[in-house]
Amino acid sequence: MNSLRLCEKLAREHSLREEEYAFLIDNRNEESARFLAREAVKVRKAVYGNKVFIRGLIEISNICRNDCLYCGIRKSNLNARRYRLTEEEILGCCKSGYELGFRTFVMQGGEDGYYTDERLSRLISKIKMLYPDCAVTLSLGERSRESYQALFDAGADRYLLRHETADKPHYENLHPAEMSFDSRMKCLRDLKEIGYQTGCGFMVGSPGQTSRHIAKDLKFIENFSPEMCGIGPFIPHRDTPFAHEKAGSAELTCFLLSVIRLIKPNILLPATTALGTVENDGREKGLLAGANVVMPNLSPVSVRKKYELYNNKICTGEESARCIKCLETRIKSTGFELSCERGDIIR
Ligand code: 5AD
Ligand code: FES
Repeated sequence: MNSLRLCEKLAREHSLREEEYAFLIDNRNEESARFLAREAVKVRKAVYGNKVFIRGLIEISNICRNDCLYCGIRKSNLNARRYRLTEEEILGCCKSGYELGFRTFVMQGGEDGYYTDERLSRLISKIKMLYPDCAVTLSLGERSRESYQALFDAGADRYLLRHETADKPHYENLHPAEMSFDSRMKCLRDLKEIGYQTGCGFMVGSPGQTSRHIAKDLKFIENFSPEMCGIGPFIPHRDTPFAHEKAGSAELTCFLLSVIRLIKPNILLPATTALGTVENDGREKGLLAGANVVMPNLSPVSVRKKYELYNNKICTGEESARCIKCLETRIKSTGFELSCERGDIIR
């Protein structure tokens, strides 16, 4: 089968065989990318109209017990200047975010033992009490099922936990021996069963990644059927074992955004900060390829540079209000419009 035929099949059936995904990736060209982007934008419009949802990202701590080989806040990085926001600081971010129009707060951080279920539950219930019309999304890594349940019961609505790669040996090449593919997969299953709107995702162009690996990721997304999926290019960080590996491309990331949109037309798909970092207009390209979410930073400017998963991260010097203005202009330039709704998945 030729590449364009496969594109048509994907648009029609929302599914391909694993080998077909790999073929599509290996044989992609401008023509197939353009076809997929057009189809992706079409289905995205049919579900969500012209809207792009915004999520306020609050980076609550860069203290992490893990040592992922790609990540700038891994525990072995002694150059990282560590910080942890207080409850008051986090609530302050929510307050200014709410005033700016945000109706989703994403609390993201390293796996920091300080954030016990008790502390987090208290924080989540406070946010939900103060802002009952807002969604709370957590992105705090692997926790026990009981913990996920407790945080859900406290009011959390969504959870982002990238699977990183659906190939076990590849997972093991990206992580230290203490971390396991099976426990990552179990976490994702637990989150979904508990009732979270769940997000998985992976890096594009991570060291050792092949088109077969990506094909597995796509098949995993098809089967797991997450409500959200975060993908962005891998970007090397100078203080990690992958310092000298090459970055993933915006081009392949956008191609995959289109594929994922066609696999699951109603998925919430962010144009990530990493995509905007590898190319100045990366996020705009992502939206035009099928993404429908952006996640500007609401963290205090004083900590933004410290939450450095990869080098050269954008927006680290900007006030939140300026970021939103800038994003609004960028979104309008694509012909879409920024929406201030909660932006839940449409079923
Ligand atoms: N480049 C790009 N993305 C990264 N992440 C972590 N380190 C990097 C990097 N060097 C991504 C991971 C993680 C998410 C929070 O950020 O996929 O799940
Ligand atoms: Fe932050 Fe443009 S989105 S400066």
